[in-house]
Amino acid sequence: MDKFEIVGGKALQGEVNISGAKNAALPIILATLLTSETVILHNVPDLRDVKTCFKLLTMMGKSYEQIGDNSFKISNAVTSNIAPYELVKTMRASILALGPLTAYLGAAEVSLPGGCAIGARPVDLHVKGLQEMGAQFELTDGYIRSSTHDGRLHGATIMMDKVSVTGTENLMMAASLAQGTTIIENAAREPEIVDLALFLKAMGANIKGEGSDTITIEGVEKLHECEYSIVSDRIEAGTYLIAAMASHGEVVCHNILPSTLDPVLVKLKKANALVEVKDNSIYLDMRNRDILPVDIITAPHPGFPTDMQAQFMVLNALAKGSSSITETIFENRFMHVPELIRMGANLSIQGNSVHCIGVDTLKGAQVMATDLRASASLVIAGLVAQGTTVVDRIYHMDRGYEHIERKIRALGGTIERISS
Ligand code: UD1
Repeated sequence: MDKFEIVGGKALQGEVNISGAKNAALPIILATLLTSETVILHNVPDLRDVKTCFKLLTMMGKSYEQIGDNSFKISNAVTSNIAPYELVKTMRASILALGPLTAYLGAAEVSLPGGCAIGARPVDLHVKGLQEMGAQFELTDGYIRSSTHDGRLHGATIMMDKVSVTGTENLMMAASLAQGTTIIENAAREPEIVDLALFLKAMGANIKGEGSDTITIEGVEKLHECEYSIVSDRIEAGTYLIAAMASHGEVVCHNILPSTLDPVLVKLKKANALVEVKDNSIYLDMRNRDILPVDIITAPHPGFPTDMQAQFMVLNALAKGSSSITETIFENRFMHVPELIRMGANLSIQGNSVHCIGVDTLKGAQVMATDLRASASLVIAGLVAQGTTVVDRIYHMDRGYEHIERKIRALGGTIERISS
């Protein structure tokens, strides 16, 4: 298993190009299951989860071709409706095949998902929504099997009991080809939901209200070819901003829509960063500035994203004073805390909150990455710690950060991949 060896202590300084968003790319690639026509996608990040999505497509009869650094052409109609365990176990987002397959073929067999071990992460909301659209379900041998009476889903008004990002996405995709109108209430409002809606509309779907908590989808008979560029990754951008901040550096993130990061930028400014945004870039300067402690409570968008919680904890660990971070989305998302404590952070878990008392420095140590964003926090901690940090199990990181070593080195950080 690959490891990162990081020598800490340098202020990150320079410019970084932000890649396409993983969490937009995955649903968009799987949404191509809804058409037999050719789709061209740009700004597709080179990530393990994206490769898994392409593998899923080919196993279902579709084909794809890389036509540029981050551009792909996806063709052919889906012929198989099975998303097998071998692929699904490596990527929870494979559940996003359920809605499109059920809508396009009238039936699907999707293995129950694996992915990051951050809590139980059920898929009941996906299933319940599709049931309301007329699908029947069976759960056998670890597979969710859906079917429809006459091969087609029908529109329904669906009240989501809890805000779910992929749940909303599955229902939006399914509703695009359903007969009649679907209204999703208490829908997720994340920028990636908006991006998926824009992509579906480019294929001819009739969607209104994306970005609000009520999304209305008028089903159409058929979706068609299109060319689309995926939104950039707000979580990747936020991770580089925090890395620059924790190391008292200065960074410009290019190719990022600043509004997608508003809830994070508010907190970075509170923590004393100088932040300037332009149309498509974010500048952050933390040279000669103290890190101030900031309380964080994660919440669905437009709240503070749970996917930035672990990274922000490194800032609070180094802040001048005490603070708390409360996780409200996932119940087991503090696995980075014991590792940060091993590096000298003064943190204590109290229920779903972490109390942080800032320390002057962190110290390099051997640490273990446990999920994608926890890995990012350990890499940031390694970059600012005194001495050498070895982060084990970085395969999590490869699921979500394109060319991470190259980008960190371009900013002046010292990081090496040790393959074993
Ligand atoms: C997505 C993101 C992930 C992010 C998360 C929250 C993708 C591929 N992943 O994950 O990076 O951390 O949103 O912003 O976009 N829940 C249920 N039943 C369900 C579905 C969800 O109870 O059927 C619960 C979950 O356990 C969790 C909460 O709802 O407590 C939110 O989860 P959800 O928004 O669905 O997360 P994902 O879509 O899996």
